[in-house]
Amino acid sequence: MHQATAGRPTHNSADRPEGWWKSSVVYQIYPRSFADSNGDGIGDIPGITAKVGYLHRLGIDVVWLSPVYRSPMDDNGYDISDYQDVDPLFGTIAELDELIAELHSRGMKLVMDLVVNHTSDEHPWFIESRDAASPKRNWYWWLPPRDGFEPGGEGAEPTNWGSAFSGSAWKLDEASGEYFLHMFSPKQPDLNWENPDVRHAVYEMMNWWVDRGVDGFRMDVINLISKPTWIGDGPVGPDTKYSSCFAAIENGHRLNEFLAEMNAAVGLSERRLITVGEMPGSTIESARAVTDPANRELDMVFTFEHVGLDARPGGSKFDLHPLTLPALKQNLNAWQVGLADVGWNSLYWDNHDQPRAVSRFGDDSPEHRINSAKTLATVQHMHRGTPYVYQGEELGMTNTYFTHVDQYQDIESVNYHADAISLGLEAETVMAGLAAKSRDNARTPMQWDDSLQAGFTDGIPWLPVNPNYVTINAAAAEADPNSVFHHFRRLIELRRTHPVLVEGRFKLLLPDHEQIWAVTRTLGDQVLVMVANCSSEPTMMPLAAVPDLAEAQILLATHGPATLERLEPWESRIYLLDSGNDLAQPAP
Ligand code: GLC
Ligand code: CA
Repeated sequence: MHQATAGRPTHNSADRPEGWWKSSVVYQIYPRSFADSNGDGIGDIPGITAKVGYLHRLGIDVVWLSPVYRSPMDDNGYDISDYQDVDPLFGTIAELDELIAELHSRGMKLVMDLVVNHTSDEHPWFIESRDAASPKRNWYWWLPPRDGFEPGGEGAEPTNWGSAFSGSAWKLDEASGEYFLHMFSPKQPDLNWENPDVRHAVYEMMNWWVDRGVDGFRMDVINLISKPTWIGDGPVGPDTKYSSCFAAIENGHRLNEFLAEMNAAVGLSERRLITVGEMPGSTIESARAVTDPANRELDMVFTFEHVGLDARPGGSKFDLHPLTLPALKQNLNAWQVGLADVGWNSLYWDNHDQPRAVSRFGDDSPEHRINSAKTLATVQHMHRGTPYVYQGEELGMTNTYFTHVDQYQDIESVNYHADAISLGLEAETVMAGLAAKSRDNARTPMQWDDSLQAGFTDGIPWLPVNPNYVTINAAAAEADPNSVFHHFRRLIELRRTHPVLVEGRFKLLLPDHEQIWAVTRTLGDQVLVMVANCSSEPTMMPLAAVPDLAEAQILLATHGPATLERLEPWESRIYLLDSGNDLAQPAP
């Protein structure tokens, strides 16, 4: 069980009332791209601390900080070489303590990114593990070449699994002639969670952070930690020579056991920390098991289903596929229904791995950008769960539209391009895939103002600033009461004043409508109704299919007073029906 670190104030779980994370809104910071304080072109911790006032004005409750630990930065910090120190690129541990104190002093919380499916190959654990005789050998996954093959020979890898960042998921270590598993880059070897020493080292590190004052963890690809007992070849799809290592590994048979053990060892539930597990390939069923409070595992998970709908089924994420509104609504609805009685949803459009929501699900043309960004925010916040806002989403920041492959920096994008071209895919198709899906879309610097480099840095930013910073920036947005920023701020405020937004029962109306997204939320005799035109064409509401809104009060809308029936492109409204109202039943 948890031991307090001598001399330090322990955690502040008194500030974390039961279930506090349900009514919270989380804001994700990708430190590299948020705010640079020293002109080296890379965002850092003092840069974040200087912006706490901005976050406070937006009204968010929790900051989730993407990794700031020591790292060779092969995957921008998701490859960690020391879990208990801050990378000098981002600052010092003392500066992180200051950030935590600054957030706490404003009533905000901090969530750290926990990346424990893998470490960096420069982590001391892995360096030791390279020695076949070391007691740390089985802290990672080492296997000899395939039967009858020489180490390093063509096809000698233990299985045909491909890594998420292209190429084989196995890398040969010449010293021992064995291969180690890396589901991501070869600089991110997978830890062996079967080994209890590994698990306890992780829990000890987590306790150290909780004692330091952090309020919870976002757990990187956490449903990959339990590997299958059978390690063998999987089916190979078109356009690749590898099988998906995700299909082989995700949601492994010991996942629930490991998470429950972690919860107990760190006191995650007991200390009322917020926990969210990133779970590619999670299903409603696996998410229910993980988030059922009775199981004491995690509070919520990030599912990937809704961000997979615009990729060809069975293909890579860059293999574009048309997205329809009914498919998107019905998917989110299935999760609402699936987790209505057990567990809790996380709600997100955007993060550091996804393209910008307004470019992907909205319409980022000058005509529709603002209203579509607002309407997407409304839709997100009107679902039941904890909303996650990614830096710049509150400004309606857009994709990058790079035109040349050399502009991309992300390891996934760069490797995919090389791989796809070598497999004979059309250059134009590959570039279109990257433009739509590259993770760099989310990683261009935060746009603070209209000064050079968008006020992000006094130097040269590590990734080019989006030229549209001249109009899309935080200073302009804060000064304009009709901005996307203020729309987000009002939605967050509404969550505080109207608990129906947190707890209310969810119901999807018009599931097959091609343009309108309509839902109700009900708590006691309070009913909220959202009607949203998620298209760039006007439309008419089928009035018979929604509750009677004639007398209802509008709580928040994208447009000024209008006729009830007609919805302008990307117009959305949230109505409140009070107890006094006669609730017309929506048609079945
Ligand atoms: C998660 C992170 C992503 C990272 C990967 C490997 O998906 O969100 O950025 O590349 O895990 O750690
Ligand atoms: Ca810096």
